[in-house]
Amino acid sequence: MNEHPSPARFAAHRPPPPIALLAELTHRCPLACPYCSNPLELSRASEELSTEEWIAVFRQAADLGVLHLHLSGGEPASRRDLVALTRAAAGFGLYTNLITSGVGLTEARIGELAEAGLDHLQLSIQGVTPEKADLVGGYAGGYARKIAVAGWTRAAGIPLTVNAVCHKQNMDEIEDMVALAIELGARRIEIATVQFHGWAERNRASLMPTRAQVEAANAFVAEARARLAGTLVIDYVPADHHSRYPKACMGGWGRTGLNVNPEGRVLPCHAAETIPGLSFDTVRETSLSEIWLNGEAFNAFRGDDWMAEPCRSCERKHVDFGGCRCQAMALAGDATATDPVCIRSPLHASLAAAAEADGEAEPGPFVYRGR
Ligand code: SF4
Ligand code: FES
Repeated sequence: MNEHPSPARFAAHRPPPPIALLAELTHRCPLACPYCSNPLELSRASEELSTEEWIAVFRQAADLGVLHLHLSGGEPASRRDLVALTRAAAGFGLYTNLITSGVGLTEARIGELAEAGLDHLQLSIQGVTPEKADLVGGYAGGYARKIAVAGWTRAAGIPLTVNAVCHKQNMDEIEDMVALAIELGARRIEIATVQFHGWAERNRASLMPTRAQVEAANAFVAEARARLAGTLVIDYVPADHHSRYPKACMGGWGRTGLNVNPEGRVLPCHAAETIPGLSFDTVRETSLSEIWLNGEAFNAFRGDDWMAEPCRSCERKHVDFGGCRCQAMALAGDATATDPVCIRSPLHASLAAAAEADGEAEPGPFVYRGR
């Protein structure tokens, strides 16, 4: 592995402020999704930042220049102080976005969130029928609650986005998901193919789409974007392992955003702790701005000095930033390696072949998170 650039060297190249902060308020969650992207080792409720500590983080974020605050989890509605946290963040001028499964929200609570200044709500759906959605989420009655939450959100005047995570078992229903999002009054849908990190790795054969599914989804999204312009915005994360080039994960490491985990550790991305050798600062000991500017983990993969070939001399290095560092670590055993999704990686062929094989495999029963 390359030596990490020293923080001192980066002091001369002060990074611009982050645009977005994702606050993982809690890892508690009533659902048990088989592709959960949270760490395999979850934070305990007793270790979570207190209301006052989170509010201090939001104040520091606003001072640092953050514009968007994503209130996430786990299930953020599991925090009893969600309304108070939202009110404080809105008071600091942050644009507040609640990312939720809907479970734990009531009509009254959504009304309180609207009154507290919540700007936007992102609601996940796991399928377009109660049977499919509740099977994937591992939570009976979840679908009915989501439909109700969408109605309460609209009634409260909060703009709604639907998040649809796609995989082998629901990718053929993308068209119905888009129709459902419109029916629910959403102005935007995020169709994101499962990322094979963490828990999803345990369900590869049940989740990996086939190449035919991926190609059909790509074509549908291109057509639907044009047809629904002005009605519904479609954000799309295509299937990574079937692609030729990697995604610009996090918009580049330490470039545009940061995550704060339930215990206050500040991470360049939600999976950064899977990279051995990095050390992460906590808001309990260090200010957010100090961590953003000089934190060792943030400076480890900023810029392009850390890159090895083929990324170092590649014309796309400021397009995708070499792909995902956590995926490079997981698949190549080296966080400075080219993301194996890239066609120029020596590991690309074996990654693509494994994705083809898992795509064609007969799905087994899900291994649920937390069961
Ligand atoms: Fe991106 Fe690196 Fe592949 Fe170039 S070689 S396309 S920078 S991952
Ligand atoms: Fe960590 Fe992509 S998930 S850089």
